[in-house]
Amino acid sequence: MPKPKVFVTRLIPEKGLELARQAADIEVWQDPLPPPREVLLEKVKGLDGLLCLLTDKIDATLMDAAGRQLKVISQMAVGYDNVDVAAATQRGIPIGNTPGVLTDTTADFAWTLLMSAARRVVEGDKFTRAGKWKTWGPIDFLGPDVSGATLGIVGFGRIGQGMAKRAAGFDMRVLYYDVQRYPIVEKSLNAEYVDLETLLRESDFVTLHTVLSPETHHLLNNSRFNLMKRSAIIINTARGPVIDPQALYRALSSGAIAYAALDVTEPEPIRMDDPLLTLDNIIIAPHIASASFQTRNKMATMAAANLSAGLTGERLPTCVNPEVYR
Ligand code: DGY
Repeated sequence: MPKPKVFVTRLIPEKGLELARQAADIEVWQDPLPPPREVLLEKVKGLDGLLCLLTDKIDATLMDAAGRQLKVISQMAVGYDNVDVAAATQRGIPIGNTPGVLTDTTADFAWTLLMSAARRVVEGDKFTRAGKWKTWGPIDFLGPDVSGATLGIVGFGRIGQGMAKRAAGFDMRVLYYDVQRYPIVEKSLNAEYVDLETLLRESDFVTLHTVLSPETHHLLNNSRFNLMKRSAIIINTARGPVIDPQALYRALSSGAIAYAALDVTEPEPIRMDDPLLTLDNIIIAPHIASASFQTRNKMATMAAANLSAGLTGERLPTCVNPEVYR
């Protein structure tokens, strides 16, 4: 019997490819950039399974282009705002994602951004390379202490809770806001539940860990930046559009807040003429919070496990739309 047909939309860690090869006849897109939309629409025709990334738009048109035999869509990411889940559910297609395995890696990176922004590491590095380091400066590169400061966590899922754990080591006061409350966890992590406005008013550092949804789109806008301390630092490792980029530019350039450190932008990649790139009080990383060797191997393995299960009609180990099984 011929093996099922699968398209993998980018080169992923070999461990994942190895597993996918055992389950299917796979074609891997070799280009470092994602397949253009029209190419992807061609590639999916007649597929049994698709292993995709957050850079691919997975909508009803694509599912219909694939055809009714498409059994599974497995995304190598925890977030899936690029996927029209309702359209998949309507067509009975399970969608897999990779939760859990990137929690610590992402929280580590959000912490890295927090520390780098507070202590102006990137600015210092640029200064050194530009040959401007002439002496030790008693008032140069000052930034706020992290130890003892107040951390506001927006979105208290796994990664948000990971930030609270890290904050304990720095004797920080921890506030959190989420649409749901976590009474047991908040007690064990010594975190205080507050409304979003209170969190923004009282935090020295605000770190975003929400999903992107219509409710969180541009959650941080002009009026919310105006509530924040002028010394506040904002960190975003969630999704770019959770922040209104024009409002962020206004807040950073007018001094309404002090600093931003982003791993995600709107759009991605950020355009080279984006005014945010003209500012010194911002760090922008290219969406690399989960980029550790170990984590990307685990994400690839997990994505392949979801793919294999879907191809044989088994329940996906981590499925974002389990209602397809009802
Ligand atoms: C995800 O998995 O959603 C991250 O943004 C990338 O690792």
